Amino acid sequence: MTYRELAAQALAESDFDGFLTELERALTDGRRDPNIVVQETLAQIYYGNNSSKLEDLPLPARAVIHSFDPRNVTTEPEYYADIDSARYGVRKPFIWLWQMFDRSALGQNALLGHRFRRMLAPHIFAKVGENFKCWHFVEWSFGYNLSFGDNVVIHRYVLLDDRGGIEIGNNVSISDYANVYSHTHDIHDIHKVYTPVTRIGDRVRLTYHSTVLAGTQIGENAMVGTGAVVTRDVAPHHIVVGIPAKTAKVKLQEPEA
Ligand SMILES: CC(C)(COP(=O)(O)OP(=O)(O)OC[C@H]1O[C@@H](n2cnc3c(N)ncnc32)[C@H](O)[C@@H]1OP(=O)(O)O)[C@@H](O)C(=O)NCCC(=O)NCCS
Repeated sequence: MTYRELAAQALAESDFDGFLTELERALTDGRRDPNIVVQETLAQIYYGNNSSKLEDLPLPARAVIHSFDPRNVTTEPEYYADIDSARYGVRKPFIWLWQMFDRSALGQNALLGHRFRRMLAPHIFAKVGENFKCWHFVEWSFGYNLSFGDNVVIHRYVLLDDRGGIEIGNNVSISDYANVYSHTHDIHDIHKVYTPVTRIGDRVRLTYHSTVLAGTQIGENAMVGTGAVVTRDVAPHHIVVGIPAKTAKVKLQEPEA
């Protein structure tokens, strides 16, 4: 996969580096509660050098300041009965920082965003390989059940529901608006939830707007066409399209790039 090498101006590059180095240190050196570090960082990202006291602010502004602190926020996965709250809790400041960074003025600056998310990712996910690259507005469920191999690229607006577990291999590309699930509900009893692991093999490409249902296995070098819904395992090297996804072609098996 070929990407252009891009850079900001020298001063911006040095400020970006300094910001990330400082932030990672503050979040991980054990001297301060990461929740407080996140609250302060988000207040600066959103409001710059605003020194107004909380009690001087109108109530809507106070509600915003409170919501920068992960302890005053709930996320959808926290409502799931099968969450491991202890494992989620240690990740939650990092998760909230990621999600709120994406929604800030900085969030669409990929130059900074790729580095920012790469810095946070090992503190959130079960495993993150080399060269992890993630664009904005990606969401997941728990984080601790999600693993990435080397050279994985995740594009905009992808949903990775790792409630049961998602294992993503090496050199995988997941395109805009793709959805990968690892939980499903019983058709008769909505309270019965099944959480099988979903596996995405090495060199797989899930193309835009495709959906992979819980517990399916996508074989090595397979490709899921735009808009396809994968309901059954996909054989290695197969290109599947449609709903339900069926094989349209089998790829020539080129050597790995
Ligand atoms: C799946 C895909 C790769 C197939 O491309 P292709 O090998 O060039 O296939 P063709 O265009 O020859 O299509 C083969 C047949 O499948 C159909 N088809 C192709 N893509 C389809 C899709 N996403 N859904 C349903 N049918 C599809 C074609 O209409 C054609 O049907 P026909 O033989 O009845 O005319 C491509 O259509 C696709 O979905 N690309 C996604 C975009 C992409 O590459 N993103 C990269 C991000 S990593």
